Amino acid sequence: MRYLTFALGKGRLAQETLELFEKVGITCEEMKEKGSRKLIFVNEELKLRFFLAKGPDVPTYVEYGAADIGVVGKDTILEEGRKVHEVLDLGFGACKMCVCGFRESAPLLVHHELIRVATKYPNIAKDYFYNQKHQTVEIIKLNGSIELAPIVGLSEVIVDIVETGSTLRENGLEVLEEVCPLSARMIVNPVSMRLESERIKNLLMRLRAQVQI
Ligand code: PRP
Repeated sequence: MRYLTFALGKGRLAQETLELFEKVGITCEEMKEKGSRKLIFVNEELKLRFFLAKGPDVPTYVEYGAADIGVVGKDTILEEGRKVHEVLDLGFGACKMCVCGFRESAPLLVHHELIRVATKYPNIAKDYFYNQKHQTVEIIKLNGSIELAPIVGLSEVIVDIVETGSTLRENGLEVLEEVCPLSARMIVNPVSMRLESERIKNLLMRLRAQVQI
C-alpha cells in the first residue's frame, strides 16, 4: 500500500482539520510535538503522510500530485484556479467574500462606475466585477490589511473576507455586496481520485458522516 499524502493549509485550518480527522480515527501523534522543525509527518500504521503548507500553495501541491488530498479555504481554491476536485465542505472556517467600503460608496456599485478595487484576491474580484456584475473596474492587488485601502484613499472599495465583521466595524466600513460564502474544503488530485478511489471514498464517507453531525 502506498502512502496517501495530505497537504494542510497552515494555521487554524490545519488545527481544526486534525481535530476532525481524530474523530474519524485518523491520528498523527508526530504532528503534536511542540517546537518540532519537521516538515512532514507520518502515520505508518495507516500509511498516511501529512505536511503543512502556505494556504495558496495547497492547491498547487494537489494539482501536481505531490499531495493526493488537500484542505484549504474556498477563497484560495477560487483564487488559485487549479485543476483539482473539490470533494467536501468541511463546514469550519465559515465566512464570506464581500465587497466592502464606506456606505457613501454604495452608489458607485449601483451605477457601475469605473472605480478602484483593492484586494488580496484579484481573480475572485475580476470574476465578480467582470463576469457577474459586468462592471469595469481597476483592480489593485494588496497582500494584507486590505481595509486600509478605502481609508487612505487607495481605492473606493475592497473585496475581502468578512468573518465576524469587527474589522469593518472598527474602521467605519460596511459590507456593500456579498460575493460568495466560504469555508474549509477538501480537494483531491484527479489521478489520485481514480488510483486510490477505494481509500479516498472510504475516508470521504467517514468525514461526511462526521461533518453532518
Ligand atoms: C482577514 C480579512 C479581514 C479580517 C476579517 O484578515 O482579510 O481583514 O480577517 O475578519 P473579521 O470580519 O472577523 O474582522 P487577516 O486577519 O487574515 O489578515 P490580513 O489583513 O493580513 O489578510
